[in-house]
Order: sequence, then C-alpha cells, then structure tokens
Amino acid sequence: MKEIKKGIVELEGRGATRKLGLEIANALEPGDVVALVGELGTGKTALTGYIAEGLGIKEEVVSPTFTIVKLYEEGRIPLAHFDIYRLGGSEELLDVGAGEIIGGRYASVIEWADIAADILPADSLLVHLSYGEGEDERRAEIL
Ligand SMILES: Nc1ncnc2c1ncn2[C@@H]1O[C@H](COP(=O)(O)OP(=O)(O)OP(=O)(O)O)[C@@H](O)[C@H]1O
Ligand SMILES: [Mg+2]
Repeated sequence: MKEIKKGIVELEGRGATRKLGLEIANALEPGDVVALVGELGTGKTALTGYIAEGLGIKEEVVSPTFTIVKLYEEGRIPLAHFDIYRLGGSEELLDVGAGEIIGGRYASVIEWADIAADILPADSLLVHLSYGEGEDERRAEIL
C-alpha cells in the first residue's frame, strides 16, 4: 500500500467520505487489506463503494451480508468486499475461503473486521468509523 495520511478525518457529508475512498483506492496494491470497523450505519459500505469507484469498478457495491464476500474483477486491481457481521470469528471467515483471497491478487475491504482481527495482516489499513454531530457527519480514524 502506498502511504496514506493517518489520524482523524472529519467526514462532513458523503462527498468527504468519497474523497477518502478515492484516496484509499489510489494507495491500494494487490494483497492489501482495509479493515473497516464501526457501528451500524456509520458508512462502511458507503466507503467501500467509493473505494470501488476509485479502482474503476462500475458495478454498484452492495453489502454482501448473506454471501460474506463479493468479488469485483473489473477494476485496476480486483476487489474482494467482505461483510463479516454474521460470523462468529476468524475460523468461520477461513471456512468461507478467505484464506485464499486475503493477501492474494485482490485488495480486500472487510466490514466488521474486528470480528476476525486475529487473522488479518499486521499491515492492514484500519479505518474506524463513527457518527459525528449532524445527520450526514461521520468521523474516520485511520490507523
Ligand atoms: N458522511 C457520510 N459518509 C458516509 N455515509 C453517510 C454520510 N452521511 C450520511 N451517510 C449515510 O449513512 C448511511 C451509511 O450506510 P452504510 O450502509 O454505508 O453503513 P454501514 O456502516 O455499512 O452499515 P452496516 O453496519 O449496516 O453494514 C448511508 O445511508 C449513507 O448515505
Ligand atoms: Mg455495511
């Protein structure tokens, strides 16, 4: 992954989230992992959609809650979008074949990454999303 500025970013509207998503997309290389953590509705899927846009993926990104992972092949680098909300832990993530995907030719974005934190690469980009003051405000802490 290319260098990304770490720290807290106030996301004052979806446009700011889009800007962050496009920045992350530019930094991604095959094998990279973006670990998204944050309560329901804080914008994990929205941010993933903007990352996908930045990679050149035209298909609309929807949350793969029931399938756990959705693969997008059309971008600058292929994207694996995981939503592991329903999983009990990292063994269950490995059971769905994640070991073959994460770290391979895909860049991986993982919603609810804290559930499987123990198997994620140490150099994963951790983005912690939370609510801001206003309805359209979110905050990203990038670690
Ligand atoms: N600044 C913002 N950035 C991102 N999304 C925003 C922002 N302001 C409002 N929203 C809205 O917040 C909602 C975020 O929903 P999203 O599905 O992305 O959250 P999520 O974290 O993936 O939720 P879940 O835990 O259910 O997967 C969307 O309806 C989006 O339009
Ligand atoms: Mg989501």
